[in-house]
Amino acid sequence: MNSPLIDVVLSPPEIDLLPRRDLSAATAVVFDVLRATSTMITALAHGAAGIWPVRTIEEALALKAQHPTALLGGERNGDRIHGFDLGNSPLEYAENVRGREIITTTTNGTIALRAVEHAPTILAAALLNIDAVALHLNSHPAREILLICAGTFREAALEDILAAGMLISLLPGHPLSDSAQLALALYQQDKSDLPAALSRSRNGLALLAKNRKPQVDWCARTSLYPILAEMTPEACVRQRAAL
Ligand code: MLT
Repeated sequence: MNSPLIDVVLSPPEIDLLPRRDLSAATAVVFDVLRATSTMITALAHGAAGIWPVRTIEEALALKAQHPTALLGGERNGDRIHGFDLGNSPLEYAENVRGREIITTTTNGTIALRAVEHAPTILAAALLNIDAVALHLNSHPAREILLICAGTFREAALEDILAAGMLISLLPGHPLSDSAQLALALYQQDKSDLPAALSRSRNGLALLAKNRKPQVDWCARTSLYPILAEMTPEACVRQRAAL
């Protein structure tokens, strides 16, 4: 079997088109390094039972009615939503989540995950578990590997494209689309200091302006957790065995 093509969706306007794209042969990998998928990986690594990504606050409250013991998490403009249990800082999810279901809505990350819900395999990924994702993709060949960069508001996010580029560097021998070559080139340029690169991004600067440097540094850590986070057909992200 030929090595599958790797393609990268760079920005939210492209994500808007994904629900109409045929993903039947694709493994979709969604990155929202600052901070949604980093938070999901951290929560699962600390024993969270499942994470339900939804698009709107209304959807979150409706799902809460069906799952009354679930925690409500997420952000708007980077801050915890009024009345919700948790914000979107990965450091908040390193405790008190063991065995809990979490319903979360964020500006970009949860939108990107739901935009590919029709793909047969959907992974939520971050720098924190990037080796585990590469290991899985290298041992579970798909016909297409689609990396989705969630972005920041309506713009491409440097940190997501960097993470996509790092993953591509761990998957040698695949044909690369132009956007995949762009992501790889960006990673090659910035790989020596990922925390500095994340701190230059729009969302990185916004987080630093709110004295949230520990969160930026946390999200810049690579391969801290050898876990996989897969979104199920019910649209719940659960930990899955890495191999
Ligand atoms: C998002 O999903 O838009 C981001 O994770 C927002 C954030 O946490 O700053």
